[in-house]
Amino acid sequence: MKDKKKVIVVFGTRPEAIKMCPLIKQIKKSTGLECSVCLTGQHREMLKQVMDVFEIEADYNLDIMRPNQTLSSITIDILNNLGDIIRKEQPDLILVHGDTTTSFAAGLAGFYEGVPIGHVEAGLRTYNIRSPYPEEFNRQAVDLIADLYFAPTCNSKENLLREGKKEDHIYITGNTVIDALSITVKEGYENENLDWAKGSRLILVTAHRRENLGEPMHNMFRAIRRIVEDFDDVKVIYPLHMNPKVRKVANEELGNHNQIRLIEPLDVLDFHNFMAKSYLILTDSGGIQEEAPALGKPVLVMRDTTERPEGIEAGTLKLVGTTEETIYDSAKELLTNQIVYEGMSKSANPYGDGHASERIIAAIESYFKGVQ
Ligand code: UD1
Ligand code: UDP
Repeated sequence: MKDKKKVIVVFGTRPEAIKMCPLIKQIKKSTGLECSVCLTGQHREMLKQVMDVFEIEADYNLDIMRPNQTLSSITIDILNNLGDIIRKEQPDLILVHGDTTTSFAAGLAGFYEGVPIGHVEAGLRTYNIRSPYPEEFNRQAVDLIADLYFAPTCNSKENLLREGKKEDHIYITGNTVIDALSITVKEGYENENLDWAKGSRLILVTAHRRENLGEPMHNMFRAIRRIVEDFDDVKVIYPLHMNPKVRKVANEELGNHNQIRLIEPLDVLDFHNFMAKSYLILTDSGGIQEEAPALGKPVLVMRDTTERPEGIEAGTLKLVGTTEETIYDSAKELLTNQIVYEGMSKSANPYGDGHASERIIAAIESYFKGVQ
C-alpha cells in the first residue's frame, strides 16, 4: 500500500472502550493505517475512566449523554452529529463495536455516508430480539450493513454464515477483551476494598441491563441480600453502574449491611484485579462473561439468555435468570458444594490468545489490498 488508509474508530460506552482501546493502540503502531478516535459520549464518567487507563485521547467527542436518555435520543443525537465528522474526515473504513445503541447509530451514519463498516465482535446472537434489549437488535442491524466482520469465535462466524454473510468478509480474531486483560491483571495488586474483604469469600456483583430494571433487579438484589444474611463468611462488593435507576434499587435492597459495599464504578484496571481476587461473580453484564472464563471465576449470569454460549460450554458460566429463588439457590450451591464450585472455576479461554487486535489489523490491511 502506498498511502496510509484512514480508519475512524467510533464508540461511546464503557465496554466498547475497553475492547476498542487495545485495538486503537495497535492501529496507531501499524504502518499501513492511520486512525481517528470519535467518541459519541453515550457514557461520560465511565468512558473517561477507560480512556484514562489506556491513555488514549479522542479526536472527537459528540458528548451526547443526558440523564434519562432514551434509545431514540441516543440514536438521533448520533445521527445528527456523526455525518459531519465522517464527511470532514473522509475515512476509508469506520470501525464500530458490539451491540450498543452507539454501535447501531454509528454504523448507520457510516452506511448513509457510503463508507465501509467493520464490525468488531460481530456475529453474537441470542436470536431473541427482545433479550438482551435492545442489544440483539443492534448487533443484528450492524451485521446487516457491515462490510467486514471480526468474529471473536467459530460460533459467531457460524451465525454469520447461516445468515448468508460472505465467508471471505468474515475473520475469526478472538475477542479484544483478552488483549485488554493481558494489560490490566497484575500480580500483587492491592486495594483497600480487597483488604476489607480479606478472610471472607468475595462475591463481586454488577448489574445494569435495561430489561432487568424494575422488578427483576429487585429480585436479583434480594437474593444477594439473603446470601450474605445466611453466610457470615461472605462479603459483597458491588461497583454501581452510574444509571440512577440502578442505584436507587441497589441502595434500597443492598444498602446498610456490614457485609456489603456499594462503591463507585471501578476503573477497568481495578475491576479486572477485583475479578481475579473474587470467589464468585454475579452479573448481567456481557463483557464479564468473556473475562471470567479466562480468569477461572464462576459466574452466575442473572439473565434469561446469553449470546456467549462459549462460556457456558467452558463450564464457567451458568444462566440463572432473574428470579430471587433461582439466584439464591445457585449461589448457595456454589458456597456449599466444593465439587460444583471447582467444576466451574477451571480456567478456560474460549475468546482467544490476546492477539485479536493484531488479527483485526491484518484483516483490514488485506481488505484494503483487495479493494485497490
Ligand atoms: C449501555 C448500553 C448497553 C451496555 C451498557 C454498558 C445501549 C442501549 N445500552 O447501557 O448495551 O451494556 O451501556 O454499561 O446502548 N450514566 C452516567 N454516566 C456514565 C454512564 C451512564 O451518568 O458514564 C447514566 C446516565 O444517567 C444515562 C444512564 O446512565 O442516562 C443510562 O446510560 P445508557 O448508556 O443509556 O444505558 P446503559 O444501561 O449504560
Ligand atoms: N467494568 C469496569 N468497572 C466496573 C464494572 C465493570 O471496568 O466497575 C468492566 C468489566 O471488566 C467489563 C465491562 O466493564 O470489561 C463490562 O461493562 P458493562 O457491564 O457496563 O457492559 P456490558 O459488557 O454488559 O455491555
